[in-house]
Amino acid sequence: MKIITSVRKMQAWASKRRAAGRRIALVPTMGALHAGHEALVRAATSSADDAVVSIFVNPTQFGPGEDFDIYPRPFEKDVKLLGAWSPDAVAFAPEAGEMYPEGVQADRLSVSAGALGRRLCGAFRPGHFDGVATVVLKLFHACRPDVAVFGLKDAQQFVILRRLAQDMLLGIRVMGVPTVREADGLAFSSRNAYLSPAERKAAVAVPQAVRAAQEAIGRGEQRRAALVEAMRSILRRAADARVEYAEVVDADTLQPMEAIAPGQRVLAAVAAYFGNTRLIDSVFTQAPAADSASPRKP
Ligand code: PAF
Repeated sequence: MKIITSVRKMQAWASKRRAAGRRIALVPTMGALHAGHEALVRAATSSADDAVVSIFVNPTQFGPGEDFDIYPRPFEKDVKLLGAWSPDAVAFAPEAGEMYPEGVQADRLSVSAGALGRRLCGAFRPGHFDGVATVVLKLFHACRPDVAVFGLKDAQQFVILRRLAQDMLLGIRVMGVPTVREADGLAFSSRNAYLSPAERKAAVAVPQAVRAAQEAIGRGEQRRAALVEAMRSILRRAADARVEYAEVVDADTLQPMEAIAPGQRVLAAVAAYFGNTRLIDSVFTQAPAADSASPRKP
């Protein structure tokens, strides 16, 4: 497996492949790879000629007191996994100095994720999505992909990065891959490794909550308050869960509404702490059309 660590060499490799008429798919990751990443890599290899997987723990998307310093960095293991999933893929693994040559603290130019970046997780992690959008734009310029592949577990990130590609006229197709789940429904996440056995057991309430909202929407429930309460009541039963938010928002604008309109595409999303570990989960779903909905009386 080829490993490239410099931006200049990555750009040279990508330009050569593009000049030869090959299409490149990029999977941006922060490493600590798991089954969710495997699905992204497989989607990348089947949607382009060459796959590049970036491994970079991006400092600018972590807030003060967050887990940047302890974020798992099992680089050798990641390279082995990548080699097994896709031997021809290229791993792009830059040091921070390659991505932020003037340093992370420098008064440098960055991308603003705008209002989309202040909703849901953004309300609790100020600047997080600006950091994500900034590093992903840099990764796009380094790897020059035709397609970029992201997991739908990070639904808000996906919505923002799709907008980044559209609004900045990048000509990159942003693909979302469905969340891969463990047997009990918990979404694969690098942060699951932080959970104690008791927290891991309780964490199953997170996927149960979003699924409950999805099912209620499918049955015709339109009231935001009822959907939020359905999610919160499941999370209340989980030992020691601290709910940050449980929301139903429009799938594109991420804005909450008092009542879902017939046929509207929405996102049911949850963020909750189990001990010190923050877990998120969400599901995109569409409300039944006007003729099939049977709205409940308020
Ligand atoms: O989803 C992630 O792992 C990160 O937010 C990303 C997209 C690689 C940017 O650092």
